[in-house]
Amino acid sequence: MLEVRDVSFSYPDGHAALRGVNITFPKEHILGILGKSGSGKTTLLKCIGRFLMPQSGRIELEGRDIRELPRRELRRSIGIVFQQLYLFPHLTVLENMTLAPRKVMKKDAHEAEREARQTLEKLGIGELADKYPAQISGGQAQRTAIARSLLLKPDYLLLDEPTAALDVDTTREFGQWLLDLKAETTFVIVTHDILFASKIASSGALLTGGEVTHTGPMREILETAGYVEEEE
Ligand SMILES: Nc1ncnc2c1ncn2[C@@H]1O[C@H](COP(=O)(O)OP(=O)(O)O)[C@@H](O)[C@H]1O
Ligand SMILES: [Mg+2]
Repeated sequence: MLEVRDVSFSYPDGHAALRGVNITFPKEHILGILGKSGSGKTTLLKCIGRFLMPQSGRIELEGRDIRELPRRELRRSIGIVFQQLYLFPHLTVLENMTLAPRKVMKKDAHEAEREARQTLEKLGIGELADKYPAQISGGQAQRTAIARSLLLKPDYLLLDEPTAALDVDTTREFGQWLLDLKAETTFVIVTHDILFASKIASSGALLTGGEVTHTGPMREILETAGYVEEEE
């Protein structure tokens, strides 16, 4: 279980981006962190990844304050795919994927490569292994970055605005792909795209101006955010 408890964060210029945020992430389903642009979503992810330190409150993983976790343990338990995907342009997809297993998990090169190929195959993108980032589409790069994170078998994988660079058809395909993968990890979809989130997440939290204004089933959040449910 991942728990954000009464977390507040202000940037050095004094802007309060998070104000007493409480969210519990059960280790199941696909969850959504929703909110308009500027509501504090990315700031929250950076606090959970320990890239930013909240001025007050705490974040706990299985009851342990993340400030006390060894960096390696935190990185193995919680994966985050930020909007900039950080694929190294001079390395192939496979080489990009084997970096962390070799560095973080101390795998030998052959073992890391075998597992990376296996993961790509399992995720249906085996044909990308030997391509360079410049040779693949935005949607494929998104999948590659997620595949790379899944290799570390995280308990949680948080995706920041995963559909921002995708067109409508690719977004739909990508949503189905995530649904098919949900046994692998607990996905947390962080997005301003509430309709996308409502199609794949079961429950979540709504951030407004750095505050959690609603948590619960997606249906309720949609109503709170003023969406009427679409009939399909
Ligand atoms: N480095 C920064 N310095 C000062 N303010 C920032 C910085 N990064 C983000 N902010 C502000 O914090 C608020 C929340 O930003 P962010 O977490 O990026 O929101 P979201 O991801 O929901 O769009 C915004 O008002 C934004 O302008
Ligand atoms: Mg953001």
